[in-house]
Amino acid sequence: MPCPYANLGDAFDPLDLSDPFPLLARARHEQPVFYSPAIDYWVVTRYADVKAIFRDHETYTAANTISPIAPFSDAARRMLAVGDYTPEPVLSNNVPPGHTRIRAQVNRLFTPRRMKSFAPAIRDIAERGVGRLLERGRAPLDIVAALTYEYPAYVLFRVLGVPAADVPQVKAWAGNRIKLYYGRPTAAEQIAMTENLVPFWRYVVDLVAEKAREPQDDLTSDLIRLRAGDDSVLTLNEIASCMITLLVAGHETTTAQINNALLHLLSRREHWRALCAAPSDIPRALEEMMRYDPSVCTWRRLAAQASVINGVDIPAGANLLLMLHSANRDERVFPEPDEILFARGNLKDQLAFGYGIHYCVGAPLARLEMAILLETLTRELPGLRLADGQQIEYTRNISFRGPKALLVTW
Ligand code: HEM
Repeated sequence: MPCPYANLGDAFDPLDLSDPFPLLARARHEQPVFYSPAIDYWVVTRYADVKAIFRDHETYTAANTISPIAPFSDAARRMLAVGDYTPEPVLSNNVPPGHTRIRAQVNRLFTPRRMKSFAPAIRDIAERGVGRLLERGRAPLDIVAALTYEYPAYVLFRVLGVPAADVPQVKAWAGNRIKLYYGRPTAAEQIAMTENLVPFWRYVVDLVAEKAREPQDDLTSDLIRLRAGDDSVLTLNEIASCMITLLVAGHETTTAQINNALLHLLSRREHWRALCAAPSDIPRALEEMMRYDPSVCTWRRLAAQASVINGVDIPAGANLLLMLHSANRDERVFPEPDEILFARGNLKDQLAFGYGIHYCVGAPLARLEMAILLETLTRELPGLRLADGQQIEYTRNISFRGPKALLVTW
């Protein structure tokens, strides 16, 4: 009999993503909504509750999704003001009606049809990346460092019209921003990381100004064309704010999702062999991998008013941590949740891309580029396997889960 007074939140370390599933399974059963004193968030673990919160965007807004879990110090705030750092809420942490207006424009860019037009370029990036891997021989190597860390960034940069030569710098800025907002830096680290936001923002502002002068065949230019000089459609500052969001959200997430998929498919090689034999199953396999181990494993909401979630009183102003990896393993929705089953009938219900008005705008691109990379790897490297005896490590943060390194051989 579980102790009715024990708060699971006392045993829960929200930044330790190494093996969250046993505690989450217990929470779904014993205490589906619990309070985490470590971060002052209410943690929601069941599928039905997570989905209901996503659906009710008036009671639960997305205003806290890009906020540091340790608030900025005065010194960090001053540094941003001096650096003319003016990104504003546009997509992820915005609320209607502003979100509705901006999202309507951005939706016009990321259509499955427009994404498909990039498929040949994406295939070329995948084939060149895997070709470089093949040249390096069969000795164990880290496939993250050699391929998956940069692949989604090269794809995104091609789509957005950002110079490929800038991938390493932008990856470093984006990684810095994730650690700042989703990790727990010390006061000194927070200052150094905040300082790093300023050149990232300047880079994006300059990029938008350049595309406004000389539009090209890319989505940044498309967004500027949709604006047609009319600030009531989109301001240039809003476009730059969209760009900095996309330049973070559009590759770290996909890198980690590919790594999660490779880890599980190669750990149980019967799944890898099945995909090599039947590559047409790759889209379903990827969907099941997103259910089983979503790279954005948690996402946030802010309670705009008092409410009750699964019998627990949630005060107005409370922060909520929605456990997408737990919702996706809720046995009430996905039977045998800890098994990998490509043939599940309800894979479309998985929540790895969120749900409702903030549903991931990059989902068509992410699905396409992940499928192309897996098609290329299963075709060129069917003998791919994990090197024995490695320890899988994860970066400490509350939301982004994916192995830091994966040693492979073939
Ligand atoms: C496998 C890769 C990815 C995963 C797992 C993922 C996951 C998510 C999740 C969970 C959300 C929050 C949804 C919500 O609040 O309901 C989100 C939003 C978003 N994602 Fe993704 N994402 C991925 C790839 C991408 C890519 C490739 C892009 C850009 C090209 C992108 C851009 C965005 C943006 C801009 C939002 C905010 C949308 C809004 O608030 O209207 N994501 N994503």
